[in-house]
Amino acid sequence: MLRFDLISIFPEYLAPLKLSLLGKAADKGLLAINIYDLRDHAQGVHKSVDDTPYGGGAGMVMIAEIWAKAIDQITDQTTDPITSQINGDQDVVDLIILTPAGRKFNQKMAEKFSSASQIVFACGRYEGIDARLAQYYRGKKNFRVHEISIGDYVLGGGEVAAMVIVEAVARLLPGVLGNPQSLSEESYSLTGDAQQQLVEYPNFTKPATWRGLDVPEVLLSGNHGEIAKWRRQQAERRTHELSQE
Ligand code: 6GU
Repeated sequence: MLRFDLISIFPEYLAPLKLSLLGKAADKGLLAINIYDLRDHAQGVHKSVDDTPYGGGAGMVMIAEIWAKAIDQITDQTTDPITSQINGDQDVVDLIILTPAGRKFNQKMAEKFSSASQIVFACGRYEGIDARLAQYYRGKKNFRVHEISIGDYVLGGGEVAAMVIVEAVARLLPGVLGNPQSLSEESYSLTGDAQQQLVEYPNFTKPATWRGLDVPEVLLSGNHGEIAKWRRQQAERRTHELSQE
């Protein structure tokens, strides 16, 4: 079972992960989602989690030790005090640090993560996390560290990016999606024909004429060979058009 652990100073922001599709998959035991408050590991009356950057400059940097305390507690080979779940024995932990300076997330990465056993998400805020956090866990043999961005724009924090990754990975797990065939036929699937990254062909449903607009004739023909050919052409045309923008 794939276990997702998310750490944030705004844990309530991640609550939608407990809803709908993923909540049902968790109820069925197909995956587990745990959400943790970073501030539980902060100290003093102010429970501050950040400090000024060495070398100067604007903004604040999140303190490595507070993150490490949270990550160590979640990944210790003991019983988790909050969820009562036993942490995996010598299983490798995939630690994802969300940062706009990370490697851009894509479908291929989602497929690789779908065979992980435990993924811990560090949702940074402010100007990010002290760079030694990634360095420290890269030096531990049971950790794989991934610094990941979800695209070329800047968000206020890693929470939404973590939710994007959880959703992209979780839907690839056996039993989470209703119809497994839609996995191989969809946009951006790399497992489909020719390993080519094509976006999906356009889809239509009843009625055959809607507000004066007709469904392409070939789709009503019942000729499966012609339909497959037409869909392939459409997917190639759309993919080409996107590359021209
Ligand atoms: Cl992972 N974090 C932030 N703060 N901004 C982003 C991002 C992550 N990915 C794209 N923009």
